[in-house]
Amino acid sequence: MNITEFKRRRKQLMRTMDKNSIAILPTAPESVRNRDVHYPFRPDSDFYYLTGFDEPEAVAVLIPGRKHAEYILFCRAKDETKAMWDGPMAGQEGAVEDYGADDSFPISDLDEILPRMLEEKSRIFYAMGCNSDLDHRLSEWITKIKSKARSGMQSPMEIVELDHYLHDMRLYKSRSEISTMRKAANISATAHKKVMRKCQPGMMEYQLESEFRHSCAIKGARQQAYTSIVGGGNNSCVLHYIENNNELKDGDMLLIDAGCELDYYASDITRTYPVNGKFSKAQAELYQLVLDAQLAAIEQVKPGNHWNQPHDAAVKTIAKGLLKLGILKGTLPNALKKETYRKYYMHRTGHWLGMDVHDVGDYKVDGQWRELEPGMALTVEPGLYIPKGTRGVPRKYQGIGIRIEDDVVVTKEGYDILSKQVPKTIEEIESQMQTK
Ligand code: GLY
Ligand code: MN
Ligand code: MN
Repeated sequence: MNITEFKRRRKQLMRTMDKNSIAILPTAPESVRNRDVHYPFRPDSDFYYLTGFDEPEAVAVLIPGRKHAEYILFCRAKDETKAMWDGPMAGQEGAVEDYGADDSFPISDLDEILPRMLEEKSRIFYAMGCNSDLDHRLSEWITKIKSKARSGMQSPMEIVELDHYLHDMRLYKSRSEISTMRKAANISATAHKKVMRKCQPGMMEYQLESEFRHSCAIKGARQQAYTSIVGGGNNSCVLHYIENNNELKDGDMLLIDAGCELDYYASDITRTYPVNGKFSKAQAELYQLVLDAQLAAIEQVKPGNHWNQPHDAAVKTIAKGLLKLGILKGTLPNALKKETYRKYYMHRTGHWLGMDVHDVGDYKVDGQWRELEPGMALTVEPGLYIPKGTRGVPRKYQGIGIRIEDDVVVTKEGYDILSKQVPKTIEEIESQMQTK
């Protein structure tokens, strides 16, 4: 992402803030895995969205209209010894020269400098409850300033939810964001295709997970956007199955929900197919039903339609299909009204997608489903889950969980499927699996 794009975002946010206000955004804390081993550091999405700065221990401050400096970045001071162990850090010069800060101070001076910046402000834009250390310090600074206020100084009184403004900005993806998301989806698509070719009975679920991760990592996407779900047979019916440690059996289906993260943007793709590469009649019946539901849902992705229209279309198709297969009884209006399909399709048809896999942005505005607009990115992922032992369902349909998930961007004309390179029809999948 270009440095000017981060600047544009900061300006856009500052335009929505009134004079006399200040925004404070910390990056994510580093987290310990065990003893002195850390998880790989991942900056906070809101923080990175505005700064492009990926070192830990940093706080961004925005003060619209401030003459000397509107954007101040607190970050680690240069430390030669630390740099020898951990590599170079931007320091205060780098923050200004390479990251476009108007001014920068060592993070160790935060307690001394930031309260002075707060003193003349009446509104603080801040996401309370996300960083307990900074929440605590901020409340201490405010208490101190208030006690001074009694002796005549103005005090910052109001804390405004920063999320509201920032998350609305993040919901509309720019051209360069969509380009990064497309790259992420392409890398994941290649990995999904490779897994399809590798898959065979007798393999372990984690072996396919490794194939997926390897394929992404050698293209530079070393992190996954979330923990992969690789479930064979009945495991495919567990929505958040991540053990991935069972053997894949001939005659079973495999559900793989996996997506890499690239430059802090997520992909999120699911495919389901037979472990042995050939759909049985019963598997094909259920699969085609979910595919029809997914295609019907995608057709509803267009400007002017609201958030829930893809879900409504998916639900209707699935309920109709389940009635036809005899898995649901009664009439369609009754199945929809009583939501009897929810026993087999219990989740929603998608979510916003972006820097976070379940990305930010409201789904409703003033109590109404939000209208889809160009630049919004979402997943479309209906499913059907029939665990073993489900009473009243023929045995041939049991032990099968199916989800088909694509990443979609709303365009002026309708939609663009970022993950369209992954085989999806029965013929495409069977043909991909035969390619060894
Ligand atoms: N992989 C998480 C999801 O599909 O929402
Ligand atoms: Mn998803
Ligand atoms: Mn997913």
